Amino acid sequence: MKLVVKTPWVEVKLPQLSGRILDVGGGGEGVIGRTARGEIYILDISEKELEEAKSRGAKGEFIKGDARKMEFPDEYFDTVTSFFSLMYMRDSRKVLKECYRVLRKGGKMLIWDAVIPRCLIYNINVIARSENEVIKAKYAVVFPAPQTCEQIENLAKSVGFEVVRKERHEHWFYLELSKV
Ligand SMILES: C[S@@+](CC[C@H](N)C(=O)[O-])C[C@H]1O[C@@H](n2cnc3c(N)ncnc32)[C@H](O)[C@@H]1O
Repeated sequence: MKLVVKTPWVEVKLPQLSGRILDVGGGGEGVIGRTARGEIYILDISEKELEEAKSRGAKGEFIKGDARKMEFPDEYFDTVTSFFSLMYMRDSRKVLKECYRVLRKGGKMLIWDAVIPRCLIYNINVIARSENEVIKAKYAVVFPAPQTCEQIENLAKSVGFEVVRKERHEHWFYLELSKV
């Protein structure tokens, strides 16, 4: 097992998002809150991370809460996003199940996340490009749970999602999921 893994910079292109959007684990760099248009709800378990996203220019409703047990009604959002957040969360299945619940029928969940090997410290550096902005973000996790695209895909399917698009790269992946 490696002690420290550090990826080269990876480039991620963000789509133009609109409507009512929930960004799960959206604190810290706050990439979605800084780039998406529309009615954005930024959910994070940490007040400090929410404050950081605000200070970096994220805009929207900042909500302190646990993605494994959200207080939103069923089918409330048009889109749910998770931008390099699952890698920080324990119990991704519970998170995905909640995301499925709060998404409207026909809505999409977009996941960008890291492929994490067994290691003690994992770092990934991301260049996120939207229509108007380029954001450089560095993410690090100590004692991460190993993670692959297939694992997250299978968890997503097990809670009811259909996979409509998938991009697998060496260090990261993108999943576009639909609630049918
Ligand atoms: C570092 S951020 C990831 C990147 C962030 N999406 C961005 O745009 O930069 C991951 C966030 O997930 C949050 N988090 C971890 N577990 C959570 C949970 N169960 N519910 C909500 N947020 C959680 C952490 O507090 C942290 O702010």
